[in-house]
Amino acid sequence: MPKIDYLRISLIDKCNFRCQYCMPEVADLIYGLNQELLTNQEIISLIRDVFIPLGFTKFRLTGGEPLLRPGVVNLVREIYQLPETEDIALTTNAFLLEKLAQPLMDAGLKRINISLDSLIPETFDKIIGNRGKSRWQQTWQGILAAHEVGFDPLKLNVVVIPGLNDREVLNLAALSIDRNWHIRFIEFMPIGNPELFGDKAWIDSEDIRSQIRQKWGLAESNVTGNGPADVFKIPNAKGTLGFISQMSECFCDRCNRVRLSADGWLRPCLLNETGQIDLKTALRSGVDIAQLQNQISQLLLLKPEINFKERDSGTDGTYTRTMSQIGG
Ligand code: GTP
Ligand code: 5AD
Ligand code: SF4
Repeated sequence: MPKIDYLRISLIDKCNFRCQYCMPEVADLIYGLNQELLTNQEIISLIRDVFIPLGFTKFRLTGGEPLLRPGVVNLVREIYQLPETEDIALTTNAFLLEKLAQPLMDAGLKRINISLDSLIPETFDKIIGNRGKSRWQQTWQGILAAHEVGFDPLKLNVVVIPGLNDREVLNLAALSIDRNWHIRFIEFMPIGNPELFGDKAWIDSEDIRSQIRQKWGLAESNVTGNGPADVFKIPNAKGTLGFISQMSECFCDRCNRVRLSADGWLRPCLLNETGQIDLKTALRSGVDIAQLQNQISQLLLLKPEINFKERDSGTDGTYTRTMSQIGG
């Protein structure tokens, strides 16, 4: 049973993209509710007074799109300055990253993971649900800015979807050859999007690995990270290739994280809504911090049991939140 020391904090459930696998258009309906967010001060006090004393040392900021959150740079700085923070990272779509890359680095952020599903602007726009002027170039500029500023490791997340971007796997993998970039292929998960998922909308990591093996060969490797990726590399490449294979293999038994949603719910498992705790209401109603810590420790003890349950619940429509609302 791994130590649970990694907290993924969603800063906002809104996003400037509408990636088909994450935020299908029906999500707009749910958006309308405009759930109230935790304030920056509440996030810091939860980290400092509740999670750090419970042993958490690794924090990742997610969304929706975390760069849409006002004050994101200050939040990074405050988390970085907590003496117990060992790792602070961010997952973004990079659309707003070009101008923010340097301020984020200056604030103490070390690692960035960026979604990039296609190198072809038309395919990219289709996946992100963009019908206007292409957004590929600005996203690419954001990625280059992160590279130039020196984020290391810099990871690019590719959700592989049959018929949409699966033919680009080799071109995307090739991005790891000349630059120290880490490309991760993610099996599409049926969360809050049963229609798009259909019968089977994911491609086994092993299929992708065998395409890469045939072209270049593939060796085992590693890279700094706290997530579930299995890491390989093309021989002599500067970067690596990661595979996040939650559909073809179950890595729930090595799960080391919990998630805090933007509206303050603590979720013990991505794939399961059992046991959530409403931390925002608790904070605002003045619940004693020791009592809150106690309640969370109880939940952490139950986590191994919760992890394995309802692994497939996304496909039968029982999910009430989309990936963008959970924070990926
Ligand atoms: P690193 O610390 O860099 O390894 O980060 P990470 O891989 O944990 O973070 P990122 O936000 O880039 O997550 C990538 C993807 O991994 C997510 O979007 C999910 O698809 C998948 N993933 C992350 N955590 C879990 C988890 O607990 N369960 C499942 N099933 N998938 C997860
Ligand atoms: N299945 C797998 N990965 C997903 N992401 C979003 N939705 C899904 C899904 N349904 C990934 C994106 C993003 C990360 C935070 O979550 O690749 O990089
Ligand atoms: Fe937005 Fe990221 Fe979801 Fe795409 S994957 S809609 S960029 S939150």
